[in-house]
Amino acid sequence: MFMIKRFQDKLTTKYMGQELKYFQMTESTNQDAWHLYENDYINGSVVLTDRQYKGRGRHGSHWFSTKDTSLTFSILYEVTLPMEKLGLLALLSAVSVATGIRVSTGLGSALKWPNDIIVNHRKLCGILVETRRAKDKTIVVTGIGLNVNEREIDFEGDLKATATSIKLETGNKIIREHLLAQILYHFEYYLENMRQVIPQWRFLCAHKNQKIFFHQGKNIIEGVFIDLDEFGHALIETNGKVETYSGNSIIL
Ligand code: BTN
Repeated sequence: MFMIKRFQDKLTTKYMGQELKYFQMTESTNQDAWHLYENDYINGSVVLTDRQYKGRGRHGSHWFSTKDTSLTFSILYEVTLPMEKLGLLALLSAVSVATGIRVSTGLGSALKWPNDIIVNHRKLCGILVETRRAKDKTIVVTGIGLNVNEREIDFEGDLKATATSIKLETGNKIIREHLLAQILYHFEYYLENMRQVIPQWRFLCAHKNQKIFFHQGKNIIEGVFIDLDEFGHALIETNGKVETYSGNSIIL
């Protein structure tokens, strides 16, 4: 079970995670975070569960997380970014989580556009960013599903071949409370230093100048990933022409 005091003792942020709502079990922490927003909330609140049974994934898919072994949480916060820059929030989340993992556990990881975290070609973490416009700001819920202490038998079906955890990669059992404190520290840092997000994302990119496959409508297209533009969109070369894409995730 996640120990709140153990987490709070390590937390060094100004506001991120200073308010933590813990549920032993819930449908979806993203949904809980939006409920929090509709009632009374503090900027930077985190909702965390040890057992999520209806996790929301990208493109309407279901997100599976194992009981008690993962970090399954959502962060509710406000930003004042222009609409065209909201795509940067996906990149910011991935950079913050990857940096938190490296600092806390020593494990290096790579990023798949826009915000999957990969180790040894397997997915370590999935991130779902949801936004709503309020008067002069945007309200953001960033949902993070990070595999931490899972063993091989904890992954079912297709996940056996496609997922991994920090414990599987490092051989060490990880203190989830300390890891979360590090992730939130970097999350707050990158929100205050947005200009560092794109260079850091580029540095961690798993597929720079590589052949990639991506969804476009119902089709799967092949191209070469060239770079990001200033808004965090992907520049992909297909048939000798470089085009800008947003909203489609990459299948390596
Ligand atoms: C993906 O499909 O890669 C994104 C998965 C995001 C899952 C997380 S787990 C915590 C939060 N609550 C949800 O319902 N989804 C996100």
